[in-house]
Amino acid sequence: KHVSVIGVPMDLGADRRGVDMGPSAIRCAGLEQRLEHLGYTVRDEGDLIVRRAKSYGAAPESNLKYLYEIVRVNSELAEAVAGMVDQGRFPLVLGGDHSIAIGTLAGVLRRKPSVGVIWYDSHGDVNTADTSPSGNIHGMALAAAMGYGHPALVGIGGGCPSVQPEHVAIIGARSLDPGEQRFLKEKGMAVYTMHEVDKLGIVRVMELALERVTRGTSGVHVSVDLDGLDPADAPGVGTPVAAGISLRESLLAMEMLSDAGVVTSAEFVEVNPALDIRNRTALAAVELITSLFGEKIL
Ligand code: ARG
Ligand code: MN
Ligand code: MN
Ligand code: MN
Repeated sequence: KHVSVIGVPMDLGADRRGVDMGPSAIRCAGLEQRLEHLGYTVRDEGDLIVRRAKSYGAAPESNLKYLYEIVRVNSELAEAVAGMVDQGRFPLVLGGDHSIAIGTLAGVLRRKPSVGVIWYDSHGDVNTADTSPSGNIHGMALAAAMGYGHPALVGIGGGCPSVQPEHVAIIGARSLDPGEQRFLKEKGMAVYTMHEVDKLGIVRVMELALERVTRGTSGVHVSVDLDGLDPADAPGVGTPVAAGISLRESLLAMEMLSDAGVVTSAEFVEVNPALDIRNRTALAAVELITSLFGEKIL
């Protein structure tokens, strides 16, 4: 019942300003009070420092934008997250763009080498430098956590284990680059696209996903990219994709994860207040978080 909240005002991985204000917007939406109301002891660890200037972190030898500043911040994040796990505290990471999942997962993996991962996202984020159409590292985060991509990204966390393909479930995918489609097929990964969500329903998809991420794992990390939701419910994201999962379905998905009692860490990313409508996306994030933490209306 002890939660550590850490913000990572990272926007370099998306190469678009505004998403650095995500942690602040989520706190504004009442996160801490809501968690305390549920009976948790919350420690706000504050935000990591991100040097968000065009000149920082360039990697002249590759097309990866801001590579070295992203590596530096993620290494700090991995350290912080590993420390929270050591103290028996639940790490709750607020983004920032999705590149911070590399650091969160590196920290978790150092302590739980076989963690399962729920990747709730309209994208797969399994590009590498060779397949990325944009050079944006947020589109490479899951691949890097699995051990694929630029050595500097894969090395975050100092040679920690990698996420195993059979321990991952991607939910809500509806925009995958050609290289990502190849990667996902080649690794035999469980991808519940919008086709499956519509055809099977979110309940069956979550049952299948839970089966996948709990078999042979110790603990589950939940990585929620708010662009997994439909843009009508989460307009404040940098890379919106139409026809997504509704907020209602997403709340149910979080409730099912909560009921399963297996979740050991989580992150909520890609909230961009500069693109939002009256903080709607941060408010949605807080609703998702409290559902994941077991909020019941009756
Ligand atoms: N697939 C695209 C790319 O590699 C978009 C990635 C979007 N990722 C995200 N975390 N929002 O650039
Ligand atoms: Mn996404
Ligand atoms: Mn690693
Ligand atoms: Mn993502």
